[in-house]
Amino acid sequence: MIRSVVRGTGAALPRRIMKNADFEGMVETSDEWIAQRTGIRQRHIAADDETTASLGEAAARAALANAGLTPDDIDLIVLATSTPNNTFPATAVEIQNRLGMHHGFAFDMQAVCSGFVYAVTTADLYIRGGLAKRVLVIGSETFSRILDWSDRSTCVLFGDGAGALVLEAGEGTGTIADRGVLAASLRSDGAHKDKLFVDGGPSTTGTVGHLRMEGREVFKHAVGMITDVIEATFSQAGITADDLDWFVPHQANKRIIDASAKKLGIAEQKVVVTVDLHGNTSAASVPLALSVAVADGRIKKGDLVLLEAMGGGFTWGAVLVRW
Ligand SMILES: CC(C)(COP(=O)(O)OP(=O)(O)OC[C@H]1O[C@@H](n2cnc3c(N)ncnc32)[C@H](O)[C@@H]1OP(=O)(O)O)[C@@H](O)C(=O)NCCC(=O)NCCS
Repeated sequence: MIRSVVRGTGAALPRRIMKNADFEGMVETSDEWIAQRTGIRQRHIAADDETTASLGEAAARAALANAGLTPDDIDLIVLATSTPNNTFPATAVEIQNRLGMHHGFAFDMQAVCSGFVYAVTTADLYIRGGLAKRVLVIGSETFSRILDWSDRSTCVLFGDGAGALVLEAGEGTGTIADRGVLAASLRSDGAHKDKLFVDGGPSTTGTVGHLRMEGREVFKHAVGMITDVIEATFSQAGITADDLDWFVPHQANKRIIDASAKKLGIAEQKVVVTVDLHGNTSAASVPLALSVAVADGRIKKGDLVLLEAMGGGFTWGAVLVRW
């Protein structure tokens, strides 16, 4: 059977780093409060010349270099983002053009922080369906553009950045010994819209709007939703937490990550954590964390890796990949 095998990873971060202490003159907060409640110590913030398209392009180029490929080898680009350069066309198409790629096709996926998990699952279906052989899957965000910088309950949590994977069609035997995407479980429930949303849009206010969140409510649902979807993925693949080599969760809050890993019985040393360095970069958070763990030699060929995310909508999902 056809499997979607990871061939390369890459990442890109804005030049400017903003530390927790840099908020102290802007809103009533402290480095201690932010670090203790979230695990975040710093985040990258995009300058005017750094956009979702430019960061996505840089991450894509890094992933292509890592894979030893060029844009000519790619058939499809799937970009997960909630902060596109324009309402349309899709920012994926802009990245396609920036890469000098004038064949194949490209589109955006919008599932907020779960966007990358949705995009990997979608790319896997295109590959297994025979519609594409090599797919660039990108998560790129500039959430700093939609933050209310006077709202201390949200502005300290998010950052900008991009990460990318190259997925390639490979032959598998149909067992979980295969390399590639092995199992996935996606969920959404629009009943939770008002807990995490942006208060603007083309069809309502005609403006971009700002991120609004009831943090405590999101926190309350997060661990249960995350663990449900991971257990569904485990049972699809016929594995337990002990079989995992790495858990790469969405990087929103260290307390949510710790509580989910604990509930699932995933050992602490198997959890990849980058929320301290990047903050919550929404759809970019999982591929950024993956890139860090691949670059520092933790994630190696043959490892069993679990990706997970949860975000606005609510949307949530998990993907199991043999590296
Ligand atoms: C946002 C979050 C960190 C807040 O932590 P918490 O422990 O739930 O804190 P609470 O919301 O109960 O707020 C406690 C107090 O801190 C205050 N507070 C909020 N932000 C603050 C900040 N940046 N600095 C200092 N105090 C802050 C609140 O106003 C509240 O004060 P009050 O008790 O006087 O009303 C936490 O709820 C969270 O991480 N939620 C999930 C958010 C998330 O991950 N979203 C993305 C999902 S993709």
